[in-house]
Amino acid sequence: MFLVTGATGDLGRRVVRLLRERETPVRSLVRLTSRYAELENRGAEIFIGDLRRERDLSKACQGVQYVISAHGSGESSDGDAETIDYKANIELIDQSKANGVQHFVFISVLGTDRGYEDAPVFKAKREVEKYLQASGLNYTILRPSGFASNLLPLAEQFRKTGLYVLIGDPLSRTSIVSTDDLARIAIESVSTDGARNQIFAVGGPDILKREDIPRLFSRIFNREPFLLNPPLLAVDGLRSAIGLFNPKLRSSLGTLRTLLANEFFTTPTETERLESTFNFKLETLEAFLRRYLGI
Ligand SMILES: NC(=O)c1ccc[n+]([C@@H]2O[C@H](COP(=O)([O-])OP(=O)(O)OC[C@H]3O[C@@H](n4cnc5c(N)ncnc54)[C@H](OP(=O)(O)O)[C@@H]3O)[C@@H](O)[C@H]2O)c1
Repeated sequence: MFLVTGATGDLGRRVVRLLRERETPVRSLVRLTSRYAELENRGAEIFIGDLRRERDLSKACQGVQYVISAHGSGESSDGDAETIDYKANIELIDQSKANGVQHFVFISVLGTDRGYEDAPVFKAKREVEKYLQASGLNYTILRPSGFASNLLPLAEQFRKTGLYVLIGDPLSRTSIVSTDDLARIAIESVSTDGARNQIFAVGGPDILKREDIPRLFSRIFNREPFLLNPPLLAVDGLRSAIGLFNPKLRSSLGTLRTLLANEFFTTPTETERLESTFNFKLETLEAFLRRYLGI
């Protein structure tokens, strides 16, 4: 039995789908308020709980062999990295140990080892990585770059309007990963010898400049892009203004700023390592988008 946290998220949903396609038993930890009908219809066991409650984590781990921690502190948890990205994972690791879990897969983030001080999610992920490595559990730590699925709503907006908003340096590099490939890697980590107690950078096969993305949309939809390119300073100004009345939000916006201000791509060597360990070719961003957009 797998336990998947964040099972209603972009990644977690794909992990559960793929496990069920393979007819593997999976328990999805979801909140009562989440949209989980699809998971239930696919035959996943639904465990209603909240990552902020230790009792829920303790019960969710009972009878589980493999854990995939795919939750995150997005909008739905007010960007509370300390509670969701840090504390909930520490508790999940402790409960996994107490329940004899055989392998723990942790979804971290590319660049978590670069010491970004102003980015709560990066800091939380790094501390969880260290805790997991010292826990004695078998583990795989996956450090993904940005998910291709994040671009689907932007592509739909582009399809209708031709508009693309690119904040910051258009030349900064990224290697966006197919969210489906990441789901597959997360699942296969528990049964792949070369993945045991390893850390992998997980990006797509191509290193793109951020300005390549509206060009790609333009090619897919056969439409000229209308590009808006506000400088990073605009985010800084907004952040300072928000900080005057909401210091917590100001702090969580540090993660966004870090993502916008830095490059997140995987090297060809890292891509080769991933493809040879998991024995499949990673999907390009264009192939992912065309598959989902039906073009
Ligand atoms: N998106 C990216 O580009 C990216 C890049 C690198 C790394 N990552 C990491 O990859 C992981 C998955 O990201 P994602 O984009 O798929 O996440 P997401 O779509 O934002 O989903 C977050 C998930 O966490 C759940 N969650 C949040 N607070 C919870 C709570 N208190 N109790 C129970 N569940 C809770 C949410 O449930 P609800 O449905 O109830 O809100 C949702 O299922 C995260 O760890 C993220 O940091 C993401």
